[in-house]
Amino acid sequence: MDYDIKDKSLADQGRLRIEWAGREMPVMKLVRQRFAKEKPLKGIRISGCLHITTETGNLALALKDGGADLVLCASNPLSTQDDAAAALVEYGLPTFAIKGEDNQTYYKHINSALAHKPQLTVDDGADLVSTAHREKPRLLADIIGGTEETTTGVIRLRNMARDGKLKYPVIAVNDAKTKHFFDNRYGTGQSTIDGITRATNILWAGKRVVVSGYGWCGRGIARRAQGMGSWVIVVEIDPISALEAAMDGYQVMPLMEAAKIGDIFITTTGDINAIDKAHFAQMKDGAIMANSGHFNVEINIPALEKMAKSKRQMRPFVDEYTLADKRRLYLLGEGRLINLAAAEGHPASVMDMSFANQALCLEHLVKNRGKLKPGVYPVPEEIDNEVGRLKLKAMNISIDSLTKEQKKYLESWEEGT
Ligand SMILES: NC(=O)c1ccc[n+]([C@@H]2O[C@H](COP(=O)([O-])OP(=O)(O)OC[C@H]3O[C@@H](n4cnc5c(N)ncnc54)[C@H](O)[C@@H]3O)[C@@H](O)[C@H]2O)c1
Repeated sequence: MDYDIKDKSLADQGRLRIEWAGREMPVMKLVRQRFAKEKPLKGIRISGCLHITTETGNLALALKDGGADLVLCASNPLSTQDDAAAALVEYGLPTFAIKGEDNQTYYKHINSALAHKPQLTVDDGADLVSTAHREKPRLLADIIGGTEETTTGVIRLRNMARDGKLKYPVIAVNDAKTKHFFDNRYGTGQSTIDGITRATNILWAGKRVVVSGYGWCGRGIARRAQGMGSWVIVVEIDPISALEAAMDGYQVMPLMEAAKIGDIFITTTGDINAIDKAHFAQMKDGAIMANSGHFNVEINIPALEKMAKSKRQMRPFVDEYTLADKRRLYLLGEGRLINLAAAEGHPASVMDMSFANQALCLEHLVKNRGKLKPGVYPVPEEIDNEVGRLKLKAMNISIDSLTKEQKKYLESWEEGT
């Protein structure tokens, strides 16, 4: 079996941590049990490009039990948990992922996953899909379909589809309600604060925290930072999101103004150069910057490197840049998603829903083999609702249901005041 990981002797630790994450993944457990009985993915070759974490370990084992022939590679050079990777190899799953791998190795690993000649792709950020389309077009004819985990990946896929370049159907798992309402908001919210805390050990109380991008992730980060006692400032380019932030009780202002007063800057825009050279020029001595968006393009790191007179690593994931005027700016986790670089990514309880959607969408693609034209598809509503229903049940929460009278009323138009 071919694989490329850091250290196979970490497998025991990885196995225990995968089991630990599994405790908080009851929906995934139910899917796995059914998959083990029904084998809906029997003999299907799957290449998965995902953050190699303990939660991904639970998804991978469910797909394996479902009969899939699965290989995995990392979806970010800095997000791999080396012990989880080692455990996956021990479980017999070829895995190509090393924390801290350089860009060349990252793409070599993606190519190793593609050498598996996938019939299904599971992507997080669309690097696997775009590499297959750019470099291995001959593989595309055999691909039944794919799934995409994150906002940035869905945006890239929609752009490919618009340009007529996407050659197979892909389900936008990110857009399921049971994914982005929870994973992006509560998952990124908590784990971003966790990543920055682990990297720096700062006290949040009393700090001015500037959150750039008030989308699903930004809302979660702002709320959690406020809960820690920070004064939160939101920066946006979209009037509705800005308005929502203002009415949620945050200060809203242009980044050029926020740059002068912020202590900690967090980007989560999915956009390039959300913090740029002109903003570095305004920042206070000691300002800290971190990114939680998918790619490391949100903070203009090349510009920061050029402006800096010297650079030191103060502690793991904390780089100090000293500028000509002696101000020191700190960049965390090389501008890569800080929750996965410096902490463990989203807690298992939210990945439970995201990955149950992933597994059920892969099953859906196989069931509908040959019926879906190339394009980006939403998660079928039945799957989204089923994941929500099962999660509520696992949390021991029951809800009401409509009476016959109410159902009839809601379907009618005749009755008014
Ligand atoms: N760290 C993680 O684990 C994790 C988890 C989920 C999603 N993501 C990634 O986080 C990013 C954001 O995802 P989301 O679901 O919140 O997206 P979203 O579309 O809901 O929100 C993005 C927000 O950023 C704003 N924005 C865009 N450009 C901006 C700019 N230059 N300045 C200020 N605001 C700007 C948009 O108006 C929007 O409100 C994506 O890259 C996504 O893939 C990361």
